Amino acid sequence: MTEDRMPEEYVIRTVGVVKRFGGIVALDGVSIAVPKGKVTLLIGPNGSGKTTLVNVITGFIEPDAGRVYYKGKDITRLPPHERAKLGIARTFQIPKPFLNLTVLENLLVSVDGNPGERPYISAIARRLWKPFEKRMVARAFEVLKWVGLESKWDARASELSGGQMKLLEIGRAIMRGADTIIMDEPAAGVNPVLVDSIFERIRSLASERGISFLIVEHRIGLVARYVDYAYAMNMGRVISQGKPEEVLNDKAVLESYLGG
Ligand SMILES: Nc1ncnc2c1ncn2[C@@H]1O[C@H](COP(=O)(O)OP(=O)(O)OP(=O)(O)O)[C@@H](O)[C@H]1O
Ligand SMILES: [Mg+2]
Repeated sequence: MTEDRMPEEYVIRTVGVVKRFGGIVALDGVSIAVPKGKVTLLIGPNGSGKTTLVNVITGFIEPDAGRVYYKGKDITRLPPHERAKLGIARTFQIPKPFLNLTVLENLLVSVDGNPGERPYISAIARRLWKPFEKRMVARAFEVLKWVGLESKWDARASELSGGQMKLLEIGRAIMRGADTIIMDEPAAGVNPVLVDSIFERIRSLASERGISFLIVEHRIGLVARYVDYAYAMNMGRVISQGKPEEVLNDKAVLESYLGG
């Protein structure tokens, strides 16, 4: 079978998702599909429903109607931690106490189900060379290589640049076993040169490691060339989708940013 005849595989699909907050219709029948091993961009003016959609996909908000699927499985009613276990991650800022840990330790403490479970931080020193820890340390180094932070393994997280911090957030998600990573504005507050290096990594994680990304981003001009597919929302609806350059030049999309 040739590449273009192969059916496209999706990790996430939403079908007709509706979410109301009182009188506000934040999502008005949103259907999107996030292809496996690709980078998908979600854009739209303020208040168009992007974060609400991310919350519905990750399980933090229950939709009033519509369905959410992960690899064909209906996850509409699954709680967030169950979705995380399946492989869906949303990146979050590194929690404050973790900024004092090293980059390597940040990956190790993000692993669930380790034998030391809760007291893992203190357990690191004591049990480092037991088989589980040994495996985890090896895996953490591999993940650090993937995200390009290998040489920083022993640095405190607090010493990282904004861009490196984003890569560490991605590394933590991969370490937890995620294959589908959702990011809300990873480039916010990051300098343009570093935006390139984050998105180059995201690209290679997608193409070489098969990780799927759904990224909400406002700095569209900076990131469009790293993206495979784009959706534009306005007032709770998808108003355009396709190749990023097509979506960015779509008249309806341009007008949605001017209007309001
Ligand atoms: N918890 C909430 N309670 C009430 N209204 C909400 C809530 N969350 C979102 N909304 C409303 O739903 C609509 C969509 O908001 P959402 O945050 O999803 O937009 P967004 O596209 O992420 O915007 P931004 O680009 O500013 O982040 C807005 O009108 C917002 O005010
Ligand atoms: Mg938002």
